[in-house]
Amino acid sequence: MLNLCLIGLGRTGIEIAKVLLQQSDIQLVMAVCSSKSDKAGKDLGEILNTRDTGIIVSRCTDLEQNLLKYKPEVAIDFSQPEATIQNAEALAKMRVKMVIGTTGFNELQQKKLMNISKNNKVGIVHAPNITLGVNVMMVLTNLAASILDNYDCEIIESHFKQKKDAPSGTAKKIATEVLKGMSINNDINVHDLDYEDIPIHAVRAGGIIGRHRTILAGKYDKVEIIHESFSRTAFALGALKAVRFIHDKVGFFEMNDVLDLRHVMTTYLEREAHFRKQRYYHMEIQENQLPS
Ligand SMILES: NC(=O)c1ccc[n+]([C@@H]2O[C@H](COP(=O)([O-])OP(=O)(O)OC[C@H]3O[C@@H](n4cnc5c(N)ncnc54)[C@H](OP(=O)(O)O)[C@@H]3O)[C@@H](O)[C@H]2O)c1
Repeated sequence: MLNLCLIGLGRTGIEIAKVLLQQSDIQLVMAVCSSKSDKAGKDLGEILNTRDTGIIVSRCTDLEQNLLKYKPEVAIDFSQPEATIQNAEALAKMRVKMVIGTTGFNELQQKKLMNISKNNKVGIVHAPNITLGVNVMMVLTNLAASILDNYDCEIIESHFKQKKDAPSGTAKKIATEVLKGMSINNDINVHDLDYEDIPIHAVRAGGIIGRHRTILAGKYDKVEIIHESFSRTAFALGALKAVRFIHDKVGFFEMNDVLDLRHVMTTYLEREAHFRKQRYYHMEIQENQLPS
């Protein structure tokens, strides 16, 4: 049984809580809200509109003392950047591993997170793009950009009206994947790539959960790669995968590591090579059977 702490009970946190409560190998022992939230002191079930769970929501200001009391092994954080950094420092001190879904960190804050993981030898999955689908989109985008490296590329991302950061963390990551793909034949340091070199258009409207569209347009044709989340349950399932991955690890990881897409790509290439060999062998036999 894995003891878990959930930080951030907003739109996404609530969906994650619902999924966590259905897992037989995971026990949610803490649910944490902001310092001024009226959720503090309530049973989590009341916030989820379900029956009582026995988990009383606590304020982030009481995080350290509750970590000592409930001893979670992993924490999931979907709150906001400053809060996540502050929480991460307390969690790392207690050696609690983290799955961080919060987005909108600036460069300094990202470095801080890495240092927290390094200095405290604690496992962190930093996942500004937590769904399986969007990670597949990134691989496809990288691949397409490496082949269509002279095409124009633009990204359009759409989210609900209240989303705070724009462009989304995922859109920036997709832009970096495009640049990585397009520079495949050049000797470029990945740290020199600047996502701002790819135009990103951010739409903030209504209740759109999340949509990312990459357009690669040439003179005579174009390729579009689109990912769309229909439900926040997709975020919850990604977070669950990340929890199961990080619970016994030390180091700073991304969803790429969690999903091991590199392994999928290698297997794909090996299988293609195998089928190719089979095809050629088959052709050889047929040729030998031709009457001379
Ligand atoms: N990685 C991904 O794929 C992915 C997917 C979806 C969302 N996100 C990101 O996850 C974050 C949350 O998204 P959301 O849509 O759920 O936003 P949201 O509805 O605004 O929820 C954020 C929640 O965090 C709580 N909070 C603020 N400070 C806190 C603190 N110090 N400690 C604990 N909780 C605190 C807020 O306040 P109260 O406690 O007062 O309610 C609020 O309920 C955003 O950064 C978003 O971009 C990432």
